[in-house]
Amino acid sequence: MPAQHRIIIDTDPGQDDAVAILLALASPEIEVLGITAVAGNVPLALTEKNARKVCELAGRPDMKVFAGAIRPLVRKLETAEYVHGKTGLDGPELPEPTMPLQDQHAVDFIIKTLMKEKQGTVTLCPLGALTNIALALIREPRIASRVKEIVLMGGGFFEGGNVTPAAEFNIYVDPHAADVVFRSRIPIVMMPLDVTHKALTSPARLAAFRKMGSRVGIATAEMLEFFERFDGEKYGTDGGPLHDPCVIAYLLKPNLFKGRKVNVAIEIGSELTMGMTVVDWWGVTKRPKNATVMRDIDADGFFALLVERLGRL
Ligand code: BDR
Ligand code: CA
Repeated sequence: MPAQHRIIIDTDPGQDDAVAILLALASPEIEVLGITAVAGNVPLALTEKNARKVCELAGRPDMKVFAGAIRPLVRKLETAEYVHGKTGLDGPELPEPTMPLQDQHAVDFIIKTLMKEKQGTVTLCPLGALTNIALALIREPRIASRVKEIVLMGGGFFEGGNVTPAAEFNIYVDPHAADVVFRSRIPIVMMPLDVTHKALTSPARLAAFRKMGSRVGIATAEMLEFFERFDGEKYGTDGGPLHDPCVIAYLLKPNLFKGRKVNVAIEIGSELTMGMTVVDWWGVTKRPKNATVMRDIDADGFFALLVERLGRL
């Protein structure tokens, strides 16, 4: 049976990106056409390497990984080693990858795939800054009408920001790219901090990964233990938010999430609120509804899905 979802994952791994990739590769409903790396949590040379490490961990050295933008469109790259460690994937000892990086540039791969595949059949899943997606839209605007939808992790509204009081990291790193994407008219599903801050790890949830006893289960527990250290301290919670896997979980079980179709505009003018996702939750403007913004998650259902799927690898 053909997969229900054919996707390109655009990512900056990152421990939570890694879990999202594992979830996608473990799920028969999803065909991953390729993984495109972008600079974000750590520089591009590390994110593309980490993406390959994760594919090998999943037993998928055949996966195609492409390197994309080395820096944001306008602003200087800001990375987040303080969260993810100096490799971006600190926690487990993962071997250096032996699978190749593809020669083709990530942006060319995105464009070529969308132009070649049947219209409305490919979903883009950005888990980092939106630089590669914006560059693809700028270079080949016809792709906008060919994408099925974009399901992304980024932004925050009721919850505020996590890198400035107003902005979430992925949007803040490249707000100009986010502006291009949110104006593209491609249907967008947005997983903001409002959702991901409810998808918290806990000792019991981490123990479930460790109990699998497999390489994937143990590496996942080690990654998340490292990752939650920073966020647990920052938010005073027992665990850390598992942001990026929400994107893939939505494809598999959309009913885990609740949200509303609204207008989202990106702040690119003010330094104080740069990268803020301005969500018109109450419909007080006439601006077009360009995104479904999620606000709630069934966190137990989400973790049950993760454990069940990662247990297959
Ligand atoms: C986002 O920023 C990154 O550090 C995470 O991987 C996630 O994509 C959360 O703000
Ligand atoms: Ca990420």
